[in-house]
Amino acid sequence: LERTFIAIKPDGVQRGLISDIIARFEKKGYKLVAIKLVHPTKDFAEKHYDDLKGRPFFNGLTDFLSSGPVVAMVWEGQGVIKYGRKFIGATAPLASEPGTIRGDFAISVGRNIIHGSDGPETAKDEIALWFKPEEILTYKKETDKWLYE
Ligand code: GTP
Ligand code: MG
Repeated sequence: LERTFIAIKPDGVQRGLISDIIARFEKKGYKLVAIKLVHPTKDFAEKHYDDLKGRPFFNGLTDFLSSGPVVAMVWEGQGVIKYGRKFIGATAPLASEPGTIRGDFAISVGRNIIHGSDGPETAKDEIALWFKPEEILTYKKETDKWLYE
């Protein structure tokens, strides 16, 4: 089954949004297969946003991601990569639709609460960067049969 990497950034943790964000993914029917609270180093943040190296906001972005605890998660389910991105909303919160996480909770692009993998390749790389294989669990839920035909 498809998996994606989702992180609640330091602003989301500080603003008390952990439970609300997890609830949205849970209620949709997605399955949490890995979760931990981490305070990333600057070096680790640079690895995570490696593709944005050279952009003018790179230093501020990686300072921000390494400024406090982050909730790192892997969510599993049909369409979770693409749908996760829809849930999250546009990069700039003021361009995000109401009902999305960024649309509901954020204002500036540099404080946009949450990260989600943008495709299957990045999902694979980001999961491998943030988690050891043994930290990701495979398990059955009784509700699976009520979610999938
Ligand atoms: P992530 O899920 O965090 O990866 O966001 P994204 O996929 O919606 O956007 P992208 O990967 O292009 O950029 C990563 C992060 O860099 C964004 O979430 C923003 O916080 C920040 N960022 C992107 N573009 C800008 C920008 O033009 N200005 C500033 N200040 N920050 C930006
Ligand atoms: Mg991105």
